[in-house]
Amino acid sequence: MLIRQERPSDAQAVRAVTAAAFERVAHAAPPIEADGVPGEATLVGWLRDDPGWVPELSLVAESGASGTEVVGHVVATHGQLTDRPALGLGPLSVDPAHQGRGIGSALMHTLLGAADAMGEPVVVLLGDPALYSRFGFVPAHGLGIEAPDPAWGDYFQARTLSAWRAEYAGQFRYAAPFNRL
Ligand SMILES: CC(C)(COP(=O)(O)OP(=O)(O)OC[C@H]1O[C@@H](n2cnc3c(N)ncnc32)[C@H](O)[C@@H]1OP(=O)(O)O)[C@@H](O)C(=O)NCCC(=O)NCCS
Repeated sequence: MLIRQERPSDAQAVRAVTAAAFERVAHAAPPIEADGVPGEATLVGWLRDDPGWVPELSLVAESGASGTEVVGHVVATHGQLTDRPALGLGPLSVDPAHQGRGIGSALMHTLLGAADAMGEPVVVLLGDPALYSRFGFVPAHGLGIEAPDPAWGDYFQARTLSAWRAEYAGQFRYAAPFNRL
């Protein structure tokens, strides 16, 4: 398996992997296209056109029979933490045929290392604490980071990085395309 930054020619493969991964997720966003493609697949395309897109943090995993098939993808984009840019992670997708082999974990570790090296202070996400605590995510409210929706509770999580300062805490808002879902 190889993890690298997304290239323009990966867009279709990323869309396909995201659609396949979220097809089986019960709580996935409702289909927003006539062909029933999961909303997360369309969200990635919208994010690419948004000012919050961070090219260094859209990563693909290559593997499969050819060794160069895109089998996983993760992206973090800039939202706002009070008045500063801050990273929101998602979607994270691994093709169902390749799940359970460490690809999702590798994508996550790579993204966190890259974000840390870029001087980003924090990464937030909405997800199951049982899955993300192993990567150092904790409930965001414990750090004073407020979710866009308070009903998310402990599922809104944050992973602080080297540049984190307690005074950065405040209200988080995702990049605008998340609100179109
Ligand atoms: C979540 C996902 C990206 C994990 O990818 P993966 O390549 O299978 O992950 P890994 O092989 O690195 O496994 C990581 C661990 O997380 C666990 N795990 C996977 N999905 C999980 C979930 N939804 N909740 C809790 N744990 C989960 C795995 O069992 C594994 O645990 P283990 O190491 O103790 O066996 C993949 O299952 C996926 O694409 N799911 C559908 C889309 C989704 O839910 N994305 C995340 C929300 S944005």
